[in-house]
Amino acid sequence: MPDKMNNTPDDLTDPILEHSGYDTTESLVGIWGHPLHAMTVAFPVALAFCTFGADLFYWWSGELFWARAAIWAAGTAFLFGLAAGLTGTAELLLVPGIRIRAPAWTHFVIAVLLLSLLGTNWGYRLQGYQAAVLPYGILLSGFNVLVVMVTGWHGGKLVFDYRLGTSKGI
Ligand code: HEM
Repeated sequence: MPDKMNNTPDDLTDPILEHSGYDTTESLVGIWGHPLHAMTVAFPVALAFCTFGADLFYWWSGELFWARAAIWAAGTAFLFGLAAGLTGTAELLLVPGIRIRAPAWTHFVIAVLLLSLLGTNWGYRLQGYQAAVLPYGILLSGFNVLVVMVTGWHGGKLVFDYRLGTSKGI
């Protein structure tokens, strides 16, 4: 029998764990149960790497082609990043078991930082995409590669460690 007067650990409850929606973590934003966020995140990740790759090739070769490839990759990384952000935010707000977990909000904060960096990298190049590459364009894309890796790794933790956005199976 727990000792109420002494406030022993038996009396303590975690309001988060006891929340009725705590175990409701299945994805709601998807096509036939396949989560849209998982489908969209691959694009900003890959395109952030492409931007850095194109910048490196431009630095190495001086070919205008690579500076143009870089601005296209930077722009599409940002636009697909926005799409990934929208699907992720919808999941965050709509699913009670995702909304209540602090790591989901940590992922949101890291992802918003990433989106602002991807947008900066594109917007900066719109002033003159060739001159923008060296040195600040390539520095930005190198940094973006690091931030996109952290964001993707952290998103993976949400899925594989916390089982967020997954199906409970049949
Ligand atoms: C801006 C707001 C964002 C929010 C609120 C958000 C939220 C989430 C949530 C809740 C999950 C768990 C799975 C699910 O419920 O679908 C997740 C997974 C993930 N997120 Fe995000 N996300 C955002 C943006 C991004 C961006 C911009 C990227 C990458 C560039 C990203 C990369 C990932 C990855 C790689 C996963 C794991 C997907 C899987 O393995 O199925 N997220 N995110």
